Amino acid sequence: MNEINKVKLSRIRRTAGMREMFGMQIPAPSKFIWPVFVVEGQGIKEPIGSMPNQFRYSPDMLIEDLEKVVEMGIGGIMIFGVMNDHARKSSFPDYPYREDGAVQKAIHLVKMNFPDLLVCTDVCLCAYTNHGHCCLFDDCGKMDIDKTNALLAKIALSHAQTGADCVAPSAMMDGQVCAIRNILDENHFQDTLIMSYSTKFASSMYGPFRSASECTPQFGDRRSYQLPANDIHQAIRESLQDEKEGADILMVKPALFYLDIISAIRKDTKCPLAAYNVSGEYSMLHASAKEGYGDLYPMASESLLSIFRAGADVVLSYWANQYDRLFKK
Ligand code: PBG
Ligand code: ZN
Repeated sequence: MNEINKVKLSRIRRTAGMREMFGMQIPAPSKFIWPVFVVEGQGIKEPIGSMPNQFRYSPDMLIEDLEKVVEMGIGGIMIFGVMNDHARKSSFPDYPYREDGAVQKAIHLVKMNFPDLLVCTDVCLCAYTNHGHCCLFDDCGKMDIDKTNALLAKIALSHAQTGADCVAPSAMMDGQVCAIRNILDENHFQDTLIMSYSTKFASSMYGPFRSASECTPQFGDRRSYQLPANDIHQAIRESLQDEKEGADILMVKPALFYLDIISAIRKDTKCPLAAYNVSGEYSMLHASAKEGYGDLYPMASESLLSIFRAGADVVLSYWANQYDRLFKK
């Protein structure tokens, strides 16, 4: 008999017990961060049309739904502020660092009710600027990086002061991590984590998010600050630079179309690496299931496993509030 015939690779997968014992670990719920949208007001839980099972919450209603999520063991949330009254947006917004802002109220309530849940906050301007860009512009219409960083730092500090465990700058401004680390340390928030959206691509997969958070740019696009999909070198440099500036956790965003980038950065750093399974990645599986092209939850869990396999330690995902339907036996 030929030696090769003795090899039977499927032997180890014959029973459910063997598959469970010898297979790799299923990611625990503590590895997930659930992104949530927060609006001003009370009693609001408004479905997001393009993202089934996701809502825009007033702070009080967020607490209600978090109960189940915390029960499942989800490790954290990422809070996004939404300003749905366009008349209140401006070219130099001050709302995002106001003590009585919707995000600040949400941070406070969540920490009061769920002290052990990791509360992360998105730190950006695009939901509050009248032009929908993540930055400020000077009088000549040029991106004003220094002024933007100063404002991002102010917002991050206000989140830390209200109790956020982790601030997450997503504007892709050069030096934003450094600016935030400095202001936090100067104000005795040495323990506040920074999770940088360090490698963030100018992606076409943010559509459902932009309609949910009403932050679509009113002119041009984000390609002068976010990354081009065709360049792995810039993608890696961006994350390594944020590590040097003091980021505690790095991030690749989006996740599914950038699994190679996740693996490459994983090899180049010892920082924890997060991946953001973005809105378009979530909605495309819903759309596909709706058309009958596949089963929703099996497709979703398979897509999430690919992100962990690529090397992500933590995944930000809208699927997090449905963890039990994905992974519970
Ligand atoms: C904006 C921001 C975006 C997302 C998170 N923060 C959109 C963008 O950059 O245009 C996308 C998240 C998602 O699509 O789920 N700073
Ligand atoms: Zn932004």
